[in-house]
Amino acid sequence: MPPSDLPLQRREFISAVAGTCLIAHRPAFASTAAPDGAPQPRRVTRLETGWKFSLGHAVDVERDFGFGRDQRTFAKAGAGTADATLAKFDDRVWQSVRVPHDWAVALPFAEPKSPPKDRADAMAAHGFKAIGRDFPQNSIGWYRVTLPVGPADKGQSIWLEFDGVFRDCIVFVNGYAAGGSASGYAPFCVDIADFLDYDGGPNVLTVRVDASLGEGWFYEGAGIYRHVDLVRAAPVHIPQWGTFVRSELGSGRAQLLVTTDVVNDGAAPVEVLLRQQMFDSRKRIVAECEDARFTLAPGQRSAQDGSTFVDAPSLWSLENPDLYTMVSEVIVAGQVIDRVETRFGIRSIRFDAERGFFLNGKPVKLLGTCNHHDHAGVGTAIPDALHAWRVAQLKEMGSNAWRSAHNPAAQVLLDACDSMGMLMIAEARQNSTSDEALGEIERMVLSSRNHPCVILWSLGNEEPHQATERGARINAELAARVKRLDPTRQSTFAMDQGWDTGVGRVVDVLGFNYRTDKIEAYHGRHPDQPVYGSETGSTVATRGEYTNDPARHIVRAYDTEHPWWASTAEEWWTIVAERTYIAGGFVWTGFDYRGEPTPYAAFPSVSSQFGILDTCGFPKDNYYYYRAWWRPDQPLVHLLPHWNWAGREGQPIEVWAHGNAEEVELKLNGRSLGRKGMPRNRHLEWQVPYATGRLEAIGYNGGRVVARDVRETSGLAHAVKLKVDRRMAKAGDVVILNAEVVDSRGRPMPTADNLLRFTVANGEVIGVGNGNPNSVEPDLATERRAFNGLAQAIVRINRSGPVNLAVSSAGLAGSRLRIVAL
Ligand code: GAL
Repeated sequence: MPPSDLPLQRREFISAVAGTCLIAHRPAFASTAAPDGAPQPRRVTRLETGWKFSLGHAVDVERDFGFGRDQRTFAKAGAGTADATLAKFDDRVWQSVRVPHDWAVALPFAEPKSPPKDRADAMAAHGFKAIGRDFPQNSIGWYRVTLPVGPADKGQSIWLEFDGVFRDCIVFVNGYAAGGSASGYAPFCVDIADFLDYDGGPNVLTVRVDASLGEGWFYEGAGIYRHVDLVRAAPVHIPQWGTFVRSELGSGRAQLLVTTDVVNDGAAPVEVLLRQQMFDSRKRIVAECEDARFTLAPGQRSAQDGSTFVDAPSLWSLENPDLYTMVSEVIVAGQVIDRVETRFGIRSIRFDAERGFFLNGKPVKLLGTCNHHDHAGVGTAIPDALHAWRVAQLKEMGSNAWRSAHNPAAQVLLDACDSMGMLMIAEARQNSTSDEALGEIERMVLSSRNHPCVILWSLGNEEPHQATERGARINAELAARVKRLDPTRQSTFAMDQGWDTGVGRVVDVLGFNYRTDKIEAYHGRHPDQPVYGSETGSTVATRGEYTNDPARHIVRAYDTEHPWWASTAEEWWTIVAERTYIAGGFVWTGFDYRGEPTPYAAFPSVSSQFGILDTCGFPKDNYYYYRAWWRPDQPLVHLLPHWNWAGREGQPIEVWAHGNAEEVELKLNGRSLGRKGMPRNRHLEWQVPYATGRLEAIGYNGGRVVARDVRETSGLAHAVKLKVDRRMAKAGDVVILNAEVVDSRGRPMPTADNLLRFTVANGEVIGVGNGNPNSVEPDLATERRAFNGLAQAIVRINRSGPVNLAVSSAGLAGSRLRIVAL
């Protein structure tokens, strides 16, 4: 059916989704829970290896491989808009890269030489990387890869699924401009079947990416920084994002409501049978929809509604994030010609204006963090295992929710949140009703609505129009669109002022950025609207530092420093913890991120200092504040600062204990300095005259020792210890290596800055970091200075078998580890 024959709602939906293929899609995430022995008629090839990369040039045509050589750049189809788009182009001198790839990580840092303030700010925004309009030589990236397509693929529907490219890219196939995306964050699809050479080849995919302009005020990376899949399917197939599973909980069973699209991209009418079965996480079939039989005319796309029941469902929860898989089979003339797996969870969510958020009927306080999507060493090209590792660090702290600030998240991240039990607020980047912005938000919803982790659609953040009538108009339209695509979730918006007006009046659940103390009065005025802290905190701190030093851009890591608009951890959490009606809060931020250097916006500050953890995921002291109060059933005491203060003997040192034990006793070299009651959701402080030795905090509940923490004066740096996040990993995965400098008795050296070298057999170091917000050392290296004793390497494993990992440093004893790759 051509779009004009579709019912109104579907027609609008299809035409607004700029950048999607009308013909062809598959679900956002292929399930790993496929029943054994089932046919696999569709082939999905993840394009990770075999890519070549070169920088182009934003103004010099010759250095941009002829792109824009004359006004006929796009005049003739397939004639080769630029030399590099043609299959015959010789790319042997280009760099071999693996996708996901962020080319900005490898660029040098650029110190602005007395620029006007606005330009210096712009450079600071992305962490002083030499990219953008002032660096045309670094701002265009070209990628090429040969597509594995041959004679057997003739007549198939073939498309590419990009999960995110930063930004403004054109996708060429054999010289044809086949598609692209302006958005640097929204997933998009490119139909390429017509442009392929099925009998000879090679078939070359070229992507020109233009990162001259930004979309945010933070580091955004550059290039194909998320996965790309090549999909080959029968002409009659389920298009991308063509399945939607909703669950409604009843007593003892759940009803599943399913909508599945099937499209006929062939030339003849077809009788179709759609069979859909539900499998649990142990691959046992638990339910099936009634078979749907229907006829599809050439070009027709049909949405099939179905429903079924699952008895005694295992609900998706934070503690037991159990997942189901729907297997949808398209059967023509008795043959399964397409098969798609959709992972979903059975759970209910609800926001209540008086009692906060409910998951499966039980109240859950949202213990959240906001995060951008970059990590030390690798920038925005975060490998899958590192996404999961980052989620695990926050889970361990007791966090149960993540806000993807301020853009749609990678599918891999949503998948990790699904599997690990982390709730997610999914957020759009462009807050507008232009076709481009609508396309972005709709693609976000379509790609992510089967993920049980997603609890809210965030339409935007602190837009200049947030408190205006125009803002209300735009967001009312966005909220309505989103609700049409997903009636199961509500909309939200993160506002930092004017909550009573504008957007605040049109979204379901209202977010407060900072100003947590204003929520109470707002709730009094609008008692029927659920509220939460969409950005809370935020303490700025440099890991392992305990004195403010503006000259070195260092901020002490006690919970005392924050920008004027923000607050400490203790200030916001004591407000939210005590009020049931506030659904929770999202700390700005879980991890430090590149760019937006705060509180010091000048070179060489290249990252923010808002994080509870630094850019490597090493915890700062506030981590233990949250860990204490977000996991109150796990007794904890944490002492700060370190106890290496040579030269300050006899002088008072400010000592804090975070923790959740009822009482904490402090001892210096075995002598008690007193026992104090720990006030709920707060911390304890002492002034302790410095003497070398052992400072110990002992936590008591009901008079019994339940937790301890020790800081000991360490001697000279003697060795470097190595830790790896897991002992078994898959070939192709990354593992996270953390190195720590210690003295001869294994005690941490809290200020060590030794240069550490990482070596790997059967793998490679793909990035290094140390969490220092003021470090301009290269990320793509095998060595890094420790920062306050710690450094990190991200290692990609080559093949199955043993993997030997080692760290060394001049004058220190090194360490080795062996892990096994499967
Ligand atoms: C907020 C904004 C965030 C970040 C933060 C820094 O206003 O939404 O993206 O800039 O301030 O405090």
